Amino acid sequence: MEFIETVKGKAREEQMRIVLPEGTEERTLKAADRLISEGIARVILLGNPEEIHHLASEYYLENIGAAEIVDPLDNPKAGEYAALMVRLRSHKGVTEPIALELLKDPLYLGAVMVKAGDADGEVAGADNATGDVLRPALQYVKTAPGVNVISGSFIMNIPDTMFGDHGMMIFADCAVHPNPSATELAEIAVSTGRTARAIVGMEPRIAMLSFSTKGSAKHEMVDKVVEATRLAREIDPTLEIDGELQADAAIVPGIGAKKAPGSNIAGKANVLVFPSLDVGNIAYKLVQRMAKATAVGPILQGMAAPVNDLSRGCSVEDIVSLAAITACQAQAAKRERKL
Ligand code: ACO
Repeated sequence: MEFIETVKGKAREEQMRIVLPEGTEERTLKAADRLISEGIARVILLGNPEEIHHLASEYYLENIGAAEIVDPLDNPKAGEYAALMVRLRSHKGVTEPIALELLKDPLYLGAVMVKAGDADGEVAGADNATGDVLRPALQYVKTAPGVNVISGSFIMNIPDTMFGDHGMMIFADCAVHPNPSATELAEIAVSTGRTARAIVGMEPRIAMLSFSTKGSAKHEMVDKVVEATRLAREIDPTLEIDGELQADAAIVPGIGAKKAPGSNIAGKANVLVFPSLDVGNIAYKLVQRMAKATAVGPILQGMAAPVNDLSRGCSVEDIVSLAAITACQAQAAKRERKL
């Protein structure tokens, strides 16, 4: 996909340190080898060094020697990280012994390395459920200033180029927040608009989706989307956003013109914001399978530093792509910190 090649190119411009907690997982190790050989990122692998080197030779991987390896069970920085964890979460009952125990879990260690600034971003999930990847990041990396809700978007490349920008669209939230309030949905829309600009280089036209278009149905679920649309416009007036719209009114010009005349978004949306995780997750998987779209993500939005979660069915290429996206998010976060 052309978009991913552009992202990889951006990532190469300033190599970021990406921690891969599943350091002994076959696809992760193969992806690490490619990230190093293609100059996309500096790689930190978590796991037993002997096992990692043994597996690397078994898979004929020649570049793993250039990765930094941190052993969660023999980590010289464990004490320092535990102190940081206690500082951040003593109010939640985290004590030094608890922190030291948590740090033996590579998913906690990875998140804390990001928080400590020893890694610029993290990619995990080839071998772990979404919740287990996200929880340490939500607890320790936390949200970016001014953001309260983390969500997950997918960049969808749809073979039928009549949709979005020549087939390119962004869907959210498809991965994180099960039942957002109107305020949270507004934040998800704004974060997704920013992802569109920062990662895809796309000027977002955001449709807030519902089963109703401009009052065609009355229900509290519709009211939520209407209110979220109003709030999102308030949070970021630079974004083009409209709702509530049904999916067909959002993406098919003829239907958009009929159901929502005068809308600047109807019929030409390139960002779809779903009213709940149920809808978003189901929709992206259906489009991926039935329309044979490529789905890149989920890209976590709103985190203080990038942490991204893979699907357990991911390929080596998926890991390389998500690591490149994570590196670009880390570059953007670094630029923002300098402002
Ligand atoms: N944004 C910001 N912070 C959050 C969010 C969010 N969306 N969700 C939880 N948090 C924070 C909480 O405030 C809490 O902080 P605190 O401990 O400092 O008070 C911390 O994260 C833990 O929150 P819990 O609700 O206790 O965490 P829990 O583990 O129950 O849930 C999780 C969080 C894992 C994200 C959960 O909402 C979840 O499982 N979501 C669905 C994930 C999923 O299965 N997605 C579908 C599959 S993905 C795919 O198909 C690609």
